[in-house]
Amino acid sequence: MLNQKNILLGVSGGIAAYKACALTSKLTQAGANVRIMMTENATEFVAPLTFQSLSRNPVYIDTFDEKDPKKIAHIDVADWADIVIIAPATANMIGKLANGIADDMLSTTLLATMATVYIAPAMNVHMYAHPAVVRNMKQLDAWGYHFIEPGAGYLACGYVGKGRLEEPESIIKVIDNHQSEDKLLSGKKVLISAGPTQEKIDPIRYFTNRSSGKMGFALAEAAAQFGADVTLVAGPTAIETTNPLIDRVDVTAAEDMYVAMHDHFQANDIVIKAAAVADYRPKITYDEKVKKQAGELQVEMERTKDILQSLGEIKKNQFLVGFAAETSNPLDYGLAKLEKKHLDAIIINNVSTEGAGFGEDTNIVTYVNQARKQKELPKATKREIAESILKLIDRDMKDD
Ligand code: CTP
Repeated sequence: MLNQKNILLGVSGGIAAYKACALTSKLTQAGANVRIMMTENATEFVAPLTFQSLSRNPVYIDTFDEKDPKKIAHIDVADWADIVIIAPATANMIGKLANGIADDMLSTTLLATMATVYIAPAMNVHMYAHPAVVRNMKQLDAWGYHFIEPGAGYLACGYVGKGRLEEPESIIKVIDNHQSEDKLLSGKKVLISAGPTQEKIDPIRYFTNRSSGKMGFALAEAAAQFGADVTLVAGPTAIETTNPLIDRVDVTAAEDMYVAMHDHFQANDIVIKAAAVADYRPKITYDEKVKKQAGELQVEMERTKDILQSLGEIKKNQFLVGFAAETSNPLDYGLAKLEKKHLDAIIINNVSTEGAGFGEDTNIVTYVNQARKQKELPKATKREIAESILKLIDRDMKDD
């Protein structure tokens, strides 16, 4: 996956900078075009000439050392890179990036690049555990930076513990695997529904449910990251989509969702119904506010259409996936839905379990395919669960 890739290797000032030499050599051997950017402190550990010889490219150190008047070097290299690796990443470099500080060429370039960035930390065991470093890494993780965890072992400072820069071979393996995952759904069109629906009573009131939309949105984000062309049909939710690769269609009621899903269904390869669709809606709706009267009020409800089932009945080559939100006997109910709605897979969700309910940031699910092969996905963030679900779908589509 790294062949012909443009890789910027950022080297910050720690003793592990010597391992970045082997990393440069291995990346070059893997066919990558490698450019090196060092901090001033890194040059105290390894001479720039070493990196220049190994990468066969000039080494960047000083923002103001502009060699080509036609270009602004840090922007040019930020745009050129497909992948940026910071190895070793010191606590200082991690702190600068997490706080938007750009006071040298490497930190400035990191703010300017749109490339995928991998951070391989290396530092003393206590520094690695310091709340400031932990907080900064968490922030970067939330922004989509990828960490390559340091190994545990003998550290140059004399301590034994976590903080040793991962070996160059392992760094390359992690990046290589991640890059192939990034292409997992490339060329595929994915349609996802998310969130609740709202069923109108009058201009002021409606029936709805507790779905936050987080699971469906996480699936959309993960599918886009895996290279898919994503359409997200979203019921009313507070979540925003900023990813330009996701085409969002907002709907309100189950009937609007039915129309939107059918409009897009034929053009898609994978269809995932993560929405919590209302099964009933008021039979009569009012254009004026319903005024209170003496005694009780009865609202007669009628069934909405089962969108997923209707898609199951017309599906041709689509890989159709449903969710089953259950509070008891999840497996039995889930398998019945898989069968009845003609699905290729179902994601069974026991919403009464702690860490798996509506509105939570985590989930716990079981993925079951048509062959009844089950995969338990233990408690993880909804984004992690989404990535695992998409990998299982990809596996099952390849098996077909
Ligand atoms: N679903 C749908 N249209 C509906 C109801 C549900 O498309 N009117 C879809 C959901 O998006 C989900 C799956 O069907 O993917 C299962 O939804 P769930 O609420 O768990 O079950 P129901 O089919 O509504 O069955 P029950 O109410 O008996 O649990």
